[in-house]
Amino acid sequence: MSERMSMGAPIVGIGLGPGDPDLMSVRARTALERADRLAHFCKAGRRGNARTIADAVIGVDPTREIAMVYPVTTEIAVEDPAYAQALAGFYEDCIARLLAEREAGRSVGVLCEGDPFFYGSWMHLWRRLKDRVPVETIPAITAMSGAWTAAGAPITWGDDVLTVLPGTLPAAELARRLRETDAAVVMKLGRNWPKVREALTEAGLGGRAVYVERATMAAERVVPVAEVPDDHVAPYFSLVIVPGDGRRP
Ligand SMILES: C[S@@+](CC[C@H](N)C(=O)[O-])C[C@H]1O[C@@H](n2cnc3c(N)ncnc32)[C@H](O)[C@@H]1O
Repeated sequence: MSERMSMGAPIVGIGLGPGDPDLMSVRARTALERADRLAHFCKAGRRGNARTIADAVIGVDPTREIAMVYPVTTEIAVEDPAYAQALAGFYEDCIARLLAEREAGRSVGVLCEGDPFFYGSWMHLWRRLKDRVPVETIPAITAMSGAWTAAGAPITWGDDVLTVLPGTLPAAELARRLRETDAAVVMKLGRNWPKVREALTEAGLGGRAVYVERATMAAERVVPVAEVPDDHVAPYFSLVIVPGDGRRP
């Protein structure tokens, strides 16, 4: 058993930032280099965004990798009890795999895109692990932070209130909350994009909102929402920012 493990090395959720490896913290980079095993979430047949970010720093080494492949992504609606059941079983399985690594004396890092505690899958592992073994979470720059910086659009001025919304909410709820805030971020676009766009229009924000795709990555796109073509298919890695317009001395 390595010295770190005998001291009870934590299982570490490593926040990797929004995409550009240069935006990763020194602590995250060190954790990447040190861990015996690096676990990542991915869809079947895909490499996973967090794994791709890490590749740029530590290269590809299949012997260190643990792929945690989601059993479902969009095949079952999130409101369906079968979705929660499938995901809960999946997370329990992930936990068993990570604990087995630890018991074998290997240190484990879990790769997380953006910040691990902000809509991160790591939270579902962390919750199950934290009372059983030492765990650590390394914070990171979020996708929204990368997005408003890429757009050259400061998000909150003076007393502006920022609301962060998942695009999975119903259209009416999105529009209501958008009307009530000064600044907003809408995450998780993908197939929710047409609904989100409609809600932005409904709230009168279509002219101020900016669509950002793959922020800080090579294929980054920043487009005013008003100029996004009607037939645009938004990828998973996209969000909308609505910059605040508050007090400026
Ligand atoms: C499960 S959440 C993870 C958020 C992440 N933990 C963070 O700190 O930003 C996934 C959503 O984050 C957004 N996202 C993540 N990376 C992105 C990027 N580089 N550019 C635009 N949106 C991104 C998308 O809205 C995506 O649907």
